[in-house]
Amino acid sequence: MNISGQQPAAAVITVDGPSGVGKGLVTRWLAQRLPGWYRLDSGALYRILALAAQSRAVALDDEAAVAALAPALDIRFTGATETDEAIWVDGENLTAQVRLESTGTLASRIAVLPQVRAALLQRQKDFRKAPGLIADGRDMGTVVFADAQLKIFMDASPEERAQRRLKQLSEQGIAAKLAPLCEEIRARDARDRNRSIAPLKPADDAELIDTTGLSPEAVIARVDVLLQQYGLN
Ligand code: DC
Repeated sequence: MNISGQQPAAAVITVDGPSGVGKGLVTRWLAQRLPGWYRLDSGALYRILALAAQSRAVALDDEAAVAALAPALDIRFTGATETDEAIWVDGENLTAQVRLESTGTLASRIAVLPQVRAALLQRQKDFRKAPGLIADGRDMGTVVFADAQLKIFMDASPEERAQRRLKQLSEQGIAAKLAPLCEEIRARDARDRNRSIAPLKPADDAELIDTTGLSPEAVIARVDVLLQQYGLN
């Protein structure tokens, strides 16, 4: 209890940055390191809403109609590792569809709409529970959890992110070409960074990690140091 008789809000660590920058690596590692902490993959909420609009033939630029779909969706995340994580929407396992590159592009189109962002705001805040929350996305540290204890902002060059994505896809047996992937990443970045509402940018008090040329181990070592510095270990 604090002085006003309210429970203090649970701790939050935010991990923001563009797609393919390694946020998944960091959030999974944090979740292992901080047992019992909850996770919010906020991009998945935008992806799920975009899929719901598409499957109901709602135009993606019909702001009010897309936003109106948000409250009724029953969304559940299960599993904790890359291989057993699953995303359930209204009882159906939509993991593969949600993760498609094309779904990410649809999500970034609806993410520019203020009513859509407002409709998802409280749903995101509801994930905040003791002992703590690890939240990743674009505006976790700037808007949704502006009072987070630790804010991490990750970045890397579009070329490097496209290379990593190509490797991931080929490991899944999916053929892709570097140039169009890089183009898609640049277009999505431009939309996410230049939109007028909640653009992708570091919070003033964020810790910046440029992962260009860094191994996963080196990235994790940086995050580990931050946990110590912020007394979150
Ligand atoms: O992180 P992701 O690739 O799953 O995100 C998909 C899209 O959703 C991304 O291009 C922009 C949008 N998004 C957002 O606007 N705000 C967030 N907090 C998370 C994602």
